[in-house]
Amino acid sequence: MHTPEPAGPAPAARTVRVVPGGPVLIEGPVEVVLPDGTRARSDRFVVAVCTCRRSRRYPWCDTSHRRRVRRDDREV
Ligand code: FES
Repeated sequence: MHTPEPAGPAPAARTVRVVPGGPVLIEGPVEVVLPDGTRARSDRFVVAVCTCRRSRRYPWCDTSHRRRVRRDDREV
């Protein structure tokens, strides 16, 4: 069986960076299709897509993935 040659040069690959414990950073613009079929679009240069599901702006990362460090500097 013959595989047809691509019509032109291969498109440039989009860079996606995985942040350990954090979001996935994708070169924008980005359109995310959610499980219910709705679409969210961001035209930012780099888009942070939430992977922890804790974001109040899901599918975008709002830094809720960061651990909250409680600092109690009061003396007892
Ligand atoms: S990855 Fe940042 S809020 Fe989910």
